[in-house]
Amino acid sequence: MSILKSSVTPRPVEERYERVRTLVFDSSSSPSQQLAAETAAAIRKADEEGRKMVLGLATGSTPVPFYRELIRLHQEEGLSFKNVVTFNLDEYFGLNRDHPESYYRFMHDQLFDHIDIPEDQVHIPDGTVAVEDSFAACQAYETMIDEAGGLDLQILGIGRTGHIGFNEPGSTRDSQTRMISLDRVTRRDAASDFLGEENVPRFAITMGVGTIMKAKRVVLMAWGENKAEIVRQAVEGDVTDSISASFLQEHEKATFILDQSAASQLTRYRCPWLVRSVEWDTKSTRQAVVWLSQELEKPVLKLVDEDYNEHGMSELLTKHGNAYEANIDVFNQLQHTITGWPGGKFGADDTDRPEREKPESKKVLVLSPEPQDAIVSMGGTLERLIEQGHDVTLVCQTSGNLRVADAEARTFAGVLSEMAEASDWGDQKAYADQILSQLEEKGDFGIDPKNVRWLKGLILRGELRDAARACKLEEKQIRFLDLPFYEEGRYRRFSPTEADVTAMSEILEQFQPHQIFATGHVADPSSLQAHCYTSLAQAFEKAAKSKWRDDCWIWGYRGKEKALEPFEIDMAVPMSPGQLERKKAAIHKFQSIRQDEIEAPKSNRQNARNYDSLGMAEYEAIEAFQRLG
Ligand code: GLP
Repeated sequence: MSILKSSVTPRPVEERYERVRTLVFDSSSSPSQQLAAETAAAIRKADEEGRKMVLGLATGSTPVPFYRELIRLHQEEGLSFKNVVTFNLDEYFGLNRDHPESYYRFMHDQLFDHIDIPEDQVHIPDGTVAVEDSFAACQAYETMIDEAGGLDLQILGIGRTGHIGFNEPGSTRDSQTRMISLDRVTRRDAASDFLGEENVPRFAITMGVGTIMKAKRVVLMAWGENKAEIVRQAVEGDVTDSISASFLQEHEKATFILDQSAASQLTRYRCPWLVRSVEWDTKSTRQAVVWLSQELEKPVLKLVDEDYNEHGMSELLTKHGNAYEANIDVFNQLQHTITGWPGGKFGADDTDRPEREKPESKKVLVLSPEPQDAIVSMGGTLERLIEQGHDVTLVCQTSGNLRVADAEARTFAGVLSEMAEASDWGDQKAYADQILSQLEEKGDFGIDPKNVRWLKGLILRGELRDAARACKLEEKQIRFLDLPFYEEGRYRRFSPTEADVTAMSEILEQFQPHQIFATGHVADPSSLQAHCYTSLAQAFEKAAKSKWRDDCWIWGYRGKEKALEPFEIDMAVPMSPGQLERKKAAIHKFQSIRQDEIEAPKSNRQNARNYDSLGMAEYEAIEAFQRLG
């Protein structure tokens, strides 16, 4: 199945809700490699024909695996870029080229510095242009694209507002390269890159929708659950200027390439019974009945035969005999996910409980990609596990030092400097003063030297200890792994190595856990959370021969990704109002906490409301988990 070749065969019926060619892959790596191979073939073909290939490029974590593969093709298979001209989609306004978050810098770090493209064939909108000159600069960018012969292939990611490039909601079909003000959601998504939303530029320069639509071929990539909802709207919804990616439906040669997580809201996965025959097992039955109940806003036990028949679920009805039987089946399944005993309840029949009864006290590893993640997503469950006598260890996989603001580091270094001076600790004073001057030297957006990152990591450790105490966890129950990939990287462009897996393996072999709580398995594969999960999955795989592994269950929780839907939940841990308040207090111990993390309790409340409307008991809040292994 070629990505760049438009499909000629009629599309299968199961894709009938999709209004643009959409290819779905198991992961992001194989389509990225395939796209790179097809791009390489197009570059070689253009070369043979004596013309230059004009490539439109995107930033963000999405194309990173594609760029890495292009670099590999250059280094190992002699692919040359001497005949390639590139145009990047966009650039933040007001950032110098050497700013670590400028797209100029990103593209050079991620691609251009590793291939043989002549610098004068690389084009990126200039973010430093004076406001009064920006209109002319944007017009000139359009002219340059035209003069190069137009874009042969435009690579795109998609933002959570549905933007392509930086074409935020409201961008019209014919818009051209221009200055645009960034949407709130976009700025929030970039907050960690810039150490806080307030530092994210307000404006950007972007190619227009019209510029992109003129490309001969367009490929939009999306990975991870976070993109699933906007991808569905762009692929299956109406063409609208509130989702600029939806305009691609009108492009003759546009293709969306998705991994399973980003595709999960498309009708063929979300409601497969609407587009094909489904084998009705326990899981698909639960998915369908929960969907029906939510669609009709009726509790599960009130659904009737007509409801099933009118929504493409008559086969399911036939299997169960009548709606009542199907309702009861799903009601019981949902009921059995609810437990106040996330580590299992010793002495109770566990046939219908999410966790095993034995052993009475389980060894539990709670993995937190950055120190705050586990508290934010499962602080209440953590507290319960401890209260119920399990041997819990919270493992912070990375130091999280990229989150900590300079101001906080300055405060701590300042305190240390004064203390050292007052008490005559010469060495410490010199050390603290060195950090203060390094902070000064690097300026607001410079890259932190090692010392500064170390201090920031220590600050976060202190905050975590405080937060953990609020969840009844003692200091000795916390482990800091400081995975190496994080210490050397930046968000959206980490490069994990075997050393990360080794560190995870060591911790698994040391603890030999019965339960592991982890997150990141449905996240964008270039995200920090996904790298943390992959290092766990690989370490777990390597432990195939260890006896403890047969007895170890993995529970997935969701952090930044889309919350679990009720049909996906395998364990629902209810929280009392008091518990929810304690969790909020714990979250607030982190100075570097972000708005979406502060709002995590809202999603716990939403879980409870969802269960309530399905006809389950009404709880204040619920933390939800999925069994992963
Ligand atoms: C930014 C860029 C887009 C990119 C989007 C998604 O907004 N301007 O071109 O598609 O981010 O980024 P990511 O791939 O990191 O999810």
